[in-house]
Amino acid sequence: MAVSKSLSVNGKNVRVRVDDPEMPLLYALRDNLALKGPRFGCGLGQCGACTVHVDGKAVRSCETPLSKLTASSKVVTLEGLGTPAKPHPVQRAFIEEQAAQCGYCINGMVMESAAFLAANKKPTDAEIKQALAKNLCRCGTHARIVRAVKRAASYA
Ligand code: FES
Ligand code: FES
Repeated sequence: MAVSKSLSVNGKNVRVRVDDPEMPLLYALRDNLALKGPRFGCGLGQCGACTVHVDGKAVRSCETPLSKLTASSKVVTLEGLGTPAKPHPVQRAFIEEQAAQCGYCINGMVMESAAFLAANKKPTDAEIKQALAKNLCRCGTHARIVRAVKRAASYA
């Protein structure tokens, strides 16, 4: 039986109608709310492409069931992090470093980096690599991604 679920996404209160309350947040974001920033990579919590923030923490939306969220859980996606006119410092730095190749992993890299830099404003290269160790990039742009995160940290 379809159920209606209230969520807070990118600062707006929204309702989604789903058949299964255990449905992953990723599907609700992409299919119900047309937020295509979070990507489906592995669907198993192993690649990071689907990363969003929930209450300021980076989480894998492919393995976060809607049932775990309340109406007051603050979900932020790539679309809510910044805008083309006013990008988040991490988004700006990724563009300036041209950190993306195919771009598939970049949602996860940006969202993971933004949550990481909120907690560690002056990280070392080793700390950045550690923070992103579970975000996979099949194109191998890791060196540019690390440079972009360092650049973003320098804006603070
Ligand atoms: S799609 Fe969620 S971690 Fe890979
Ligand atoms: S830029 Fe292609 S997967 Fe990372």
